[in-house]
Amino acid sequence: MSAPVVEAKDLRQVYEIRRGFFRAPARLQAVGGVSFAVQPGRTLAVVGESGCGKSTLARMVTLIEPPTAGSLTLDGIDAVDPPRADWRRLRRMVQLVFQNPYGSLNPRRKVGAILEEPLAINTDLARPERTARARAMLAKVGLRPEHYDRYPHMFSGGQRQRIAIARALMLSPKLVVADEPVSALDVSIQAQVLNLLADLQQELGLAYLFISHDLGVVRHIAHDVLVMYLGLVMEQGEKGRIYAAPLHPYTQALLGATPGLTGAKRKRMVLGGDLPSPLSPPKGCVFSTRCPYATDLCRAERPALRPLDGRLVACHYAETFLAEAPAAA
Ligand SMILES: Nc1ncnc2c1ncn2[C@@H]1O[C@H](COP(=O)(O)OP(=O)(O)OP(=O)(O)O)[C@@H](O)[C@H]1O
Ligand SMILES: [Mg+2]
Repeated sequence: MSAPVVEAKDLRQVYEIRRGFFRAPARLQAVGGVSFAVQPGRTLAVVGESGCGKSTLARMVTLIEPPTAGSLTLDGIDAVDPPRADWRRLRRMVQLVFQNPYGSLNPRRKVGAILEEPLAINTDLARPERTARARAMLAKVGLRPEHYDRYPHMFSGGQRQRIAIARALMLSPKLVVADEPVSALDVSIQAQVLNLLADLQQELGLAYLFISHDLGVVRHIAHDVLVMYLGLVMEQGEKGRIYAAPLHPYTQALLGATPGLTGAKRKRMVLGGDLPSPLSPPKGCVFSTRCPYATDLCRAERPALRPLDGRLVACHYAETFLAEAPAAA
């Protein structure tokens, strides 16, 4: 197996929240120790409800925000405290695609200029070469040559996301972090953009960190899945295993809430209750306040993330769920 493009070890992000003059600031653990590696040509999907820390993770991996603790390497280079000489290379190596293709494209610039800007800033390429590359990239993402001279508002949502993807690829990154890249799109358009991402991955050997709140969306694009809840990893591993037999009740709930994914035998579980405040997470298992199987043990003791059945899972009762899982898993 080739060396990972990105490797994170026990990555953490803690925010201090001011609560007025007389009170000490509160600590909000947005990401509480996440480890993963992504190889070239592979996709790691990070899934969880709103506020579980997905975008915080994305900001750390794209070097927008340094982690509070933990290590992060991109192509083997330390990305937390990088050697000065490597900083430029690191910035080019990883690119971010956002959820909202309306907000992330400058409305006053034509598509051609939007695509050429990263080249103008980061390379010594002459103008004709920049233009040639922008035009080639337009074709690669399924847009037409005449789109070069149009403004972002003249495009549909799906086309705009194609432009955003094209811009992210202009500097030939090795890793693309996509934060809910299709969530704002119609379902019919989502599939087209997901297919485009998959084709580009094949062609260019890109590694993806693909963020979504929806396990259904990532089913076809992911190779590995990391399920987060309140900043902590609940379950992590190879996609096939997790979809066939989710061992954590939270993963089960996310799958249960995805129409079309429930196997005939899989009991449907609906996520009730409110997400606890990340400022005062439950003492034991963070999911215990919403878990239908929670016991006194779950409320008292936080389960460690541990290996079981070829993946990692953080549940005291994972063995029980494994025993109940369909044999075909
Ligand atoms: N700069 C910040 N300062 C303080 N708290 C923050 C900051 N950024 C994020 N948070 C908090 O950290 C937690 C994780 O936020 P994050 O945006 O990473 O979640 P998310 O999984 O991306 O959610 P969504 O699906 O809504 O985008 C939330 O409780 C959020 O309020
Ligand atoms: Mg987010």
